[in-house]
Amino acid sequence: MSEAEGSAPKLWGGRFSGSVDAEVDRFTRSFSFDHVLAPYDLVASIGHAVMLTEQGVLDRATGDEIVEGLASMLDDLESGALMVSGDFEDVHAWIESTLSERIGDAGKKLHTARSRNDQVAVAQRLWLRDQLEGSVRELLTFADLLVEVATSERETALPGYTHLQRGQPVSLAHHLLAYVWMLDQDASRLRRAHSAAGTCPLGAGALAGTTFDIDPARSAELLGFERVFNNSMFAVADRDYVVEASFACSLLQVHLSRWAEEVVLWSSTEVGFAQLDDSVAKGSSIMPQKKNPEPAEVLRGKAGRVIGDLVAHLVQLKGLPLTYNSDLQEDKEALFDAVATARGSLCVATALQRGLRFSRERMAAALYGGFVTATDLADGLVRRGLSFRDAHEQTGAAVRLAESQKCELWELSLADLASVCPLADQEIFAALDPQQSLAAHNSPGGPAPARVDQQIAQARAALEVHRLWLQRRQPMPVLERLANR
Ligand code: ARG
Repeated sequence: MSEAEGSAPKLWGGRFSGSVDAEVDRFTRSFSFDHVLAPYDLVASIGHAVMLTEQGVLDRATGDEIVEGLASMLDDLESGALMVSGDFEDVHAWIESTLSERIGDAGKKLHTARSRNDQVAVAQRLWLRDQLEGSVRELLTFADLLVEVATSERETALPGYTHLQRGQPVSLAHHLLAYVWMLDQDASRLRRAHSAAGTCPLGAGALAGTTFDIDPARSAELLGFERVFNNSMFAVADRDYVVEASFACSLLQVHLSRWAEEVVLWSSTEVGFAQLDDSVAKGSSIMPQKKNPEPAEVLRGKAGRVIGDLVAHLVQLKGLPLTYNSDLQEDKEALFDAVATARGSLCVATALQRGLRFSRERMAAALYGGFVTATDLADGLVRRGLSFRDAHEQTGAAVRLAESQKCELWELSLADLASVCPLADQEIFAALDPQQSLAAHNSPGGPAPARVDQQIAQARAALEVHRLWLQRRQPMPVLERLANR
């Protein structure tokens, strides 16, 4: 974008006799980043012009001319015939200037009964809603894949960890489904942010509404918003939807980061639960043997970046007096970054999961050495009448015995086991096998394959709710009007 100063067509200037310092001008512009709002601003501007025409604020001929001019810009943007570039302060100046170039003086009437303050708020909300829908779509692709992998790993036992120490047997399916539930909540949060952005601020003007006979509810309807503002000052100063969106992206990114850490851990030589396909690994410039889990590491690292975006938003808003202040211009880069990073991360997570080859053998081998069924022994003794505390104590002795014999609990002889756990019998002994233990953990939401079958059905139903939400999203009425004109 050319940055030659001084020549920029401005949306103000009548009151100024001198010109703005070139450095100051450059510093305060937003065109280099807010140009991505152009199509959304064009659509919102069309909605505004339609409403003004219906209300008789603009005469029909002028209104039609403006709508045609804006629609031609939208078409040309899409085809690539028009670029959002030039020497402008912001995208709003570009729109008005380009429109006036195309339709002459009528273009100068578009800004009747609006301000850049409600204009930027409406464009950014439209942009965000569109993006969040894309993020939910991408999230569902990843979550669906995890569910699909889970269906074939219901019987794959591996240790579940606490404190990164082997705890109790779980299945790979159960482990992966835990992430599906995180993603389910992430989808709900992205949708809540979408709803928070669903209040139309158009008609709030600079801060105090307008003297013209406008119909903000009609603007909202044309642009597919759920609600219209109740307070013009709140409408132009509110950025809660920005915070909610960047929070939703941050927590999603934190979840992806936790999953990515498992990938790093699992693909290490030490753990070896998974190998990475060449498509999702990278090499070392010096160590020829290396195959590094770089996509997973970068995914993990991106969490810091998105959380930074969230913090930037909160700090920008803190202490900001009503109403619009130019600090609010600074919300854009962080918001764009948070949304794009989370969405890109979901894409990479899907690719990474596709490139993971799980090793059932290594998972099975890890069930040895950690006495992962000790709790089953204690539970069995409790069933024979012992208090849990006493059973815990006796089981501890059994663990020590197995440790001294360098074997597993299920490899002790029944006689040896009974020497420290007098109530131990064949049934208790049989329950010490990890696969038996897995099947026996059949409480609601537990890892037993039968429970996991239920869980898979529940997860599919939960994801379906988000899919239906996406399918029910309607195109903006204003765009349908354009298509039918
Ligand atoms: N570029 C500005 C922003 O992104 C548009 C609103 C400017 N309003 C104003 N009164 N200077 O927030």
